Amino acid sequence: DPSGTGYAHAKAILLGEHAVVYGTPALAVPVHGLGVEARVWPAPEGVHVDSELFAGDASTAPGLVRPVVTALSAALDLVGLGHGAKVRILSSLPHERGLGSSAAVAAAVARAVAGLAGVELGPDALYKVVQEAERHSHGNPSGLDARAVVADTPIRFQRGRVAPVPVGTTTTFVLADSGMAGSTARSVAGVRERLEADPSAVERTFARIADLVEEGARQLAHGDLAALGTALSEDHRLLAWLGVSNEVLDRLVAAATAAGSAGAKLTGGGQGGCVIALADSEDHADELATALRGAGAARTWTTTVPAA
Ligand code: PMV
Repeated sequence: DPSGTGYAHAKAILLGEHAVVYGTPALAVPVHGLGVEARVWPAPEGVHVDSELFAGDASTAPGLVRPVVTALSAALDLVGLGHGAKVRILSSLPHERGLGSSAAVAAAVARAVAGLAGVELGPDALYKVVQEAERHSHGNPSGLDARAVVADTPIRFQRGRVAPVPVGTTTTFVLADSGMAGSTARSVAGVRERLEADPSAVERTFARIADLVEEGARQLAHGDLAALGTALSEDHRLLAWLGVSNEVLDRLVAAATAAGSAGAKLTGGGQGGCVIALADSEDHADELATALRGAGAARTWTTTVPAA
């Protein structure tokens, strides 16, 4: 049988989440080694999702199934394969942990459909499909995830556009899963309420987050990890002030800094999901991971961004 396959990796937001929804820039890094593989076959009609290979049970993750169906239909239209398709998804990426699983699923599906049609989707076509799917999972996505899960380098994102960010020195991060699902839609709505209630204070906070993003991009480029860590920790405090942290995330951030991390913060939507902590070296990353699990993290992953 003819089939097409596609892959997309996880991402972690280094700086700028939430404010990015209102047009400020953000920085994200690829998380290689965690990702989604999709395989698509032609089918007589309709869209069939075979989700037995989900990391979790798909019936417990309807939020994942709808974006799959949307991405599949949009991609089939785009490449001119009007008929139905069957898709199988293999994901090593936990759902609702701020790692971009819904965007990665949509991107992998879109690439698989393109493979089936024997065409390649350019970055903007891919972005369009993934954004369409993302709108089904969180309403009004900034587009950061859609760009980040298909970027091989760290990126600076603003209003749909991306530029690669140079990296001065190999930089290692530990991601720690709080074990709690975080609803991005809910936390984005919470920030909106906060903005409506107290516009000037929230706008000042967004402006400071935007400065941290610009500073962070320079610090990453210069390999100034001490300063980058300070920026991450300040961003966490601002996100907490916006109401998107919780006790578990605060505890993980504190555990990371107590274990010698130069800085740590929640990453993604918050109110659950993951924390990202900057490590001094790969050995230090092992220590940080142990400390984070000791502080209650359900799982940890180490990700390295090479100098480039
Ligand atoms: O939780 P995630 O990985 O979907 O990241 C959300 C990032 C936000 O800035 C909170 C929302 C957005 O659309 O950019």
